[in-house]
Amino acid sequence: MTGELLLLSSVIFLLQVVCGCPEKCRCHSFSNSVDCSQQGLAEIPSNLPLQTLTLHLQDNQIHQLPAFAFRSVPQLKTLNLCNNSLSNLAPGAFHGLQHLQVLNLTQNSLHSLESRLFHSLPQLRELDLSSNNINHLPTSLGQRWENLTMFSIQQNQLQQLDRALLESMPSVKLLLLKDNLWKCNCHLLGLKLWLEKFIYKGGIVDSVICASPDTWKGQDLLKIPHELYKPCPFPSPDLEPSQVQQPGSAHQAVPRPPGSYSTGERDHSECELKPKPRLANLRHAVATVIITGVLCGIMCLLMLAAAIYGCTYAAITAQHHEGPLVQTNEPAKAEGKETFDSSPA
Ligand SMILES: *[C@@H]1O[C@H](CO)[C@@H](O)[C@H](O)[C@H]1NC(C)=O
Ligand SMILES: *[C@@H]1O[C@H](CO)[C@@H](O)[C@H](O)[C@H]1NC(C)=O
Ligand SMILES: *[C@@H]1O[C@H](CO)[C@@H](O)[C@H](O)[C@H]1NC(C)=O
Repeated sequence: MTGELLLLSSVIFLLQVVCGCPEKCRCHSFSNSVDCSQQGLAEIPSNLPLQTLTLHLQDNQIHQLPAFAFRSVPQLKTLNLCNNSLSNLAPGAFHGLQHLQVLNLTQNSLHSLESRLFHSLPQLRELDLSSNNINHLPTSLGQRWENLTMFSIQQNQLQQLDRALLESMPSVKLLLLKDNLWKCNCHLLGLKLWLEKFIYKGGIVDSVICASPDTWKGQDLLKIPHELYKPCPFPSPDLEPSQVQQPGSAHQAVPRPPGSYSTGERDHSECELKPKPRLANLRHAVATVIITGVLCGIMCLLMLAAAIYGCTYAAITAQHHEGPLVQTNEPAKAEGKETFDSSPA
């Protein structure tokens, strides 16, 4: 009797876990979507169905996400957190969402993002961070996003964006960057060059309108010529030759599109990427030493050969015509140093 009761209660419990629906949400079992929007929620509801694929949490007042906030819905593909009060995301907030494809964080109060925040979201295709207060993005937001095709950071407070972040999104096709505080100085040159390549390869970007300095205010970053950028101060003087080596190196797999010539590339590395040139510099230095050595060796051998030839020739000539004739013959036949030696006499 008690056994049956226990079985019954566990079945009911399991049914609740599998088919249950949080109080303030509407669960659509057919599409496995759960709609908890506009419910005045302050946190993620518990008791979400395990098989949920789409979770609507927009238009609530959720202000923070703890680590593993979505542990109970590991199958999630679409997560909408638009129009909440999020200002603080724990570093592991999205951990465990191996299948997440769309993450919408628009209209929140995010200021900055942890560099490993979106780590472990390998399937991500669309990341929408527009309409927040983000003033800085790290150079990486996790691992490489092979599948990310859309990235939006519209309507934030960004002054610059490191191109290394964009390079971690090799499949991105749509990039929304407008309405930020873009500061069009040498530090933005890397972004400009990346965008030129991106557009050349068929990518779509809205517009990057400079907010500062006054010279470029209101102008489109892509329409400002490279030559007009003041170079960023950088201590290392011999960057130019190392940059020439770079296309062959493993770092740059993609061929350069027209427009991104070496001046720009150099300025870019001066601004942002320091380890690369150092490595290339080392290689360059080693190559220079080797080439110089080989050239010197060849020169020495040639000079030696010339000297031996000259001496032998002089000796033979001396044997054939003796005495003063040597001096009259030599300037005509011998060259260089020997001419100088004999001319004063
Ligand atoms: C944002 O959510 C609030 C409820 O929390 C709602 O009243 C408001 O209309 C929403 N804003 C937008 C732009 O949808
Ligand atoms: C995120 O939500 C906003 C508001 O509903 C919408 O305009 C935007 O297209 C969404 N972004 C994505 C990537 O679905
Ligand atoms: C990208 O998407 C494809 C197809 O959905 C998937 O097979 C692949 O594993 C994804 N890439 C990564 C890095 O997860």
